[in-house]
Amino acid sequence: MHPCPAHTHALHSTVTETPVITTTGLTKVYRSRGREITALDGVDLHVREGEVYGVIGQSGAGKSSLIRCVNLLERPTSGTVTVAGQDLTALAGRGPRAGKELRKARSHIGMVFQHFNLLSSRTVQDNVELPLEILGKSGKERSRKALELLDLVGLADRANAYPAQLSGGQKQRVGIARALAGDPKVLLSDEATSALDPETTRSILHLLRDLNRRLGLTVLLITHEMDVVKTVCDSAALMENGRVVESGTVGELLATPGSELASALFPVSGDASSEERTVIDVTFQGDAATRPVISQLSRTYNIDISILGAAMDTVGGLQVGRMRIELPGRYEDNVVPIGFLREQGLQLELVGPAAQASASAKEGAK
Ligand SMILES: Nc1ncnc2c1ncn2[C@@H]1O[C@H](COP(=O)(O)OP(=O)(O)OP(=O)(O)O)[C@@H](O)[C@H]1O
Ligand SMILES: [Mg+2]
Repeated sequence: MHPCPAHTHALHSTVTETPVITTTGLTKVYRSRGREITALDGVDLHVREGEVYGVIGQSGAGKSSLIRCVNLLERPTSGTVTVAGQDLTALAGRGPRAGKELRKARSHIGMVFQHFNLLSSRTVQDNVELPLEILGKSGKERSRKALELLDLVGLADRANAYPAQLSGGQKQRVGIARALAGDPKVLLSDEATSALDPETTRSILHLLRDLNRRLGLTVLLITHEMDVVKTVCDSAALMENGRVVESGTVGELLATPGSELASALFPVSGDASSEERTVIDVTFQGDAATRPVISQLSRTYNIDISILGAAMDTVGGLQVGRMRIELPGRYEDNVVPIGFLREQGLQLELVGPAAQASASAKEGAK
């Protein structure tokens, strides 16, 4: 285990380039009452070892279908799913022997559910022992492992309680301990915090982050809350109508002009105070975030800069974010200061009339 005690936080997760979950051309078509519903439409997903990967999208986008296809709870209509080097789609549906192999592969994939799915007639400890029973572990081994896992999720003192005696957050901790019983490399989470209040959500997200760092666990989590992505994810994908329309690390998304995910993660707003102004969204990350670029700009060109809005945060130990600034004068008057900002390695997006002016200036130069 990583020598990092529970109460400290390493700055970064140890993400490697090794793919742990890969889907190619994943398609799922449900047939019900003669109707066909395409829930997944050619999804290529690449989750690297050690990362927390968030999939976000509106209701019906196909998020749950995706996660259920990743562990083959749902059989994909076409495409492949590879987890930890094993092609699960090849294991599926080849007679009873293959079924056993798939069950074995699946025991190394932990799954956490929105509604916890605990057995109410069993104690906390017995709930965590359940997957170990299925794996055929001895009573002694089961109990040792279950207590170790309960300790890991901060519930060592509730081993003999029943689910009905626990809060929602505690129930989800039991759900997480149970998901870890088979020593999975991968944890899948479908809306694990959607049934919890904001503070409990934060504590569960921190637990997932902590487990990710301490155990090197790769986490694929599904959510419809942007805050969840912002709090814990190294990478994210946006789903719409069964397709992944954007994906990448938070840094890559921020560096993608027009990225919907980046604007949702770092929303900035604010309108120009008059027509004689140029409004620009500036994206900061890495080095540029810590240099006093805005004050340099102001001094170099002797202009007053107003900040209309800003969203900054620390992601993976690095300051990143976006700021909406306003310069006096129209776009044509600000070509040189804009060039200065670009030279500083900042990514700029012109907003409103300036965007049109810049586009037609480029058109004219052709
Ligand atoms: N078992 C099923 N049979 C038929 N259609 C289904 C089935 N499961 C999901 N669907 C349909 O597939 C589409 C995607 O559903 P899915 O549950 O994957 O969405 P989701 O992104 O998880 O939504 P939510 O945020 O509401 O959980 C929807 O149109 C849904 O109605
Ligand atoms: Mg769902």
